[in-house]
Amino acid sequence: MFNVQSIREDFPILQTQVYGHPLVYLDNGATTQKPRQVVEAMVNQYYTANSNVHRGVHHLSTVATDMLEQSRETVRKFIHAASVDEIVFTRGTTEAVNLVASSFCQQEMQAGDEVIVSTMEHHSNIVPWQLQAERKGIVVKVIPMTDEGVLQMDAYEQLFTEKTKIVSVAHVSNVLGTVNPVAEIIRIAHTHGVPVLIDGAQSVPHMPVDVQALDADFYCFSGHKVYGPTGIGVLYGKREWLDRLPPYQGGGEMIGTVSFEKTTFNHLPYKFEAGTPDYVGATGLAAALDYVSAIGMDNIAAYEASLTQYALEQMAQIPGMRIFGPISASLTSQVDEYSSDNCQLSIVNCQLHRGSVISFLVGDIHHLDMGTLLDRLGIAVRTGHHCAEPLMHRLGIEGTVRASFGIYNTFEEIDAFVSGIKRVASMF
Ligand code: ALA
Repeated sequence: MFNVQSIREDFPILQTQVYGHPLVYLDNGATTQKPRQVVEAMVNQYYTANSNVHRGVHHLSTVATDMLEQSRETVRKFIHAASVDEIVFTRGTTEAVNLVASSFCQQEMQAGDEVIVSTMEHHSNIVPWQLQAERKGIVVKVIPMTDEGVLQMDAYEQLFTEKTKIVSVAHVSNVLGTVNPVAEIIRIAHTHGVPVLIDGAQSVPHMPVDVQALDADFYCFSGHKVYGPTGIGVLYGKREWLDRLPPYQGGGEMIGTVSFEKTTFNHLPYKFEAGTPDYVGATGLAAALDYVSAIGMDNIAAYEASLTQYALEQMAQIPGMRIFGPISASLTSQVDEYSSDNCQLSIVNCQLHRGSVISFLVGDIHHLDMGTLLDRLGIAVRTGHHCAEPLMHRLGIEGTVRASFGIYNTFEEIDAFVSGIKRVASMF
């Protein structure tokens, strides 16, 4: 069951006043706030179990190592990977994509070989491939999208050639909220013998993800967007791929033996974890995943879909409103009626059409003006190109205002947001 008021009590920062208004935090796509449970787990480790991992025979090192490996198991279970050997801790989604782009290109691609990305990618799933294009002469091909922000699957299929070596796409667009049909994207790629990397930065915090059901070859996400700490993220890779790829960085922990003549590498997943890992970050990430798991990812998806649908409907009534991306947030499964009296909701097996992100513009009002004036009302939104400049070019705009919802947002906050937009619009 979903109880938003009791969730809010776990997040002290939500009591903040901004310019005399209660904070309405709608910038969850950029980063989420942290519940006490996450912060306390990290503080507790620093106070009672801090030591470098995989390096000591002494008590504290053993405890810290066990905690790290337990966190890896928590991540494995959360995304339903087959083995903890397939879970690599990274600094975040960006480092995970860079790791795959670098190691995959080194091993599997020659000049002229092709990677397929999509129009709606974040820069972190474009630039790493462009760096490889400069270094190795690979070619970046782009799946087009409709004006509504939906990927054109016919065009996608036609992009494949004998030179296509990998596909790399976002599960959910950080600008449009589009939930891409990644299972189908992966299925089609596999018919061409091509592996797929999914950027799950905007999906993992908002919906159940099962990497085996998707048959993803690689899947990555960031801890800080799923109520965990900054500086920690995850790369999932199928064992056969991770075994095949060369290390990304060299250093301690990732080696088997080292001599000046020849160095051998550690087994999975340590081959990809050079240097002291962020083991306290991993503890925080595991606490965050336990936290959202206790609420239930299905419940979170359903609650956020109802918030998003409500916001879309209210926003559509504002004169001059232009919303980017799919306009419905509907779910394909049965959702019990949401009751605002007790803030509880329960569902089974939901499948989202749209993530909890809404990008918009009102009339000629510049996105920066809208964002700055909403802030004066205590409402935190993101403005600009959202690290997706090619998508902005496709839409023919410079930027948008973006509201992105999380587990602690309420229908009352949506009302405050919508009346804030109206108030700002009336000033122009
Ligand atoms: N990638 C994050 C966002 O979309 C920072 O806001």
